[in-house]
Amino acid sequence: MFEVLPHLEPDPILGLSAAYKEDTNDAKIDLGVGVYKDEQGNTPIMTSVAKAQNILLERETSKTYITPQGHQGYIDNMLTLLLGEGSQVMLADRVAAVQAPGGCGALRILSELLARCSDNARVFVSDPTWANHIPLIGSAGLKLETYPYFDKDTASIRFDAMMDKLKEAGKGDVVLLHGCCHNPTGADLTNAQWDAVLELAQERGFLPFLDVAYLGFGDGLEEDAYGIRLLAENLPEVIIAASCSKNFGLYRERVGLAAIITETSQIKKIAQGQIQSVARGIYSMPPSYGGALVDIILSDVALKQEWVGEVNSMRNRMQTLRAMLVDKLEENGADKDFSFLNTQKGMFSFLCISPEQVREVRAKHSVYFVDSSRVNIAGINQHNVDALAKALVSVL
Ligand code: LMR
Repeated sequence: MFEVLPHLEPDPILGLSAAYKEDTNDAKIDLGVGVYKDEQGNTPIMTSVAKAQNILLERETSKTYITPQGHQGYIDNMLTLLLGEGSQVMLADRVAAVQAPGGCGALRILSELLARCSDNARVFVSDPTWANHIPLIGSAGLKLETYPYFDKDTASIRFDAMMDKLKEAGKGDVVLLHGCCHNPTGADLTNAQWDAVLELAQERGFLPFLDVAYLGFGDGLEEDAYGIRLLAENLPEVIIAASCSKNFGLYRERVGLAAIITETSQIKKIAQGQIQSVARGIYSMPPSYGGALVDIILSDVALKQEWVGEVNSMRNRMQTLRAMLVDKLEENGADKDFSFLNTQKGMFSFLCISPEQVREVRAKHSVYFVDSSRVNIAGINQHNVDALAKALVSVL
């Protein structure tokens, strides 16, 4: 049976972690897979999450299945976080949603639902986009197209070209947008650009598909929700895949949310049944643990406040690391201006160097990041930044 299977190259992002582990160089630097790291290079359990774990240990009395949609408290709290207190679409009962196994699970089940709705829906994704968007969406049988997004030469968004391309999308088409902290480029739409996207969606009638994996890592939990709330409250239909991996540090617990904003509460009921049936056909019901923790945190005023403080610290630290790298590169005589890193948001940026330079810095200095030149900013720290800057300058 299996002899027909072709050999596959390692995943472009996850494969880096394996290569990094095998590298025996003590001075190796990991800027690969997107996980938050502290000054010591550890990914700690957040204090609010640790407290929620203790509460859950006391509170949980059974390991029987949870409901097919997941913890309703988790879903309601997450929707409020994303859509805001007093969200009109929530008040109008127009949001169907399920707890999903991670952001990936959410992306996949929403894609499967889209495939149930249409045989020929096209999904427009940014060029570039997160590498795993392609298999997650494409494997559901949806056709993918790209829209221009980022210009490596100027390290900025190609907004006019993006809008020109999106004029080709119409009713029955889907446009995937990163809610904030664009992965891999770190280049986000301004509020005025979001306004223009809303206008175009209203004019053309395409369906926005928002991927929200880094809420709070850009400018703040409220600020980062601008585009999400704008589209959700002003369009008849929007779909959202959200992840708690990064901003709750719950990577391995696989907790995400798939939400569908429908035109009427009548359609919402149907969409709710459909999305649960998609999930049933793949994994039945979501794992409980991560969603239960997020529910505990977001339902408790003091714990939520503590969590918001932790998200703010992670964001501020990543902004400091950006500035530190830019300064160190300049100090070490880089003949390229990297100040664009300071204007970008979230966990990632493109260094805008060539794949050959990326591979050279990996081979010669054991600095690991994706061939596209995407770096995980959170992998930088006071101890490695100087060596990192020197290594980068040596391949420029
Ligand atoms: C990343 O982009 O590095 C993360 O979202 C992890 C992953 O699954 O790729």
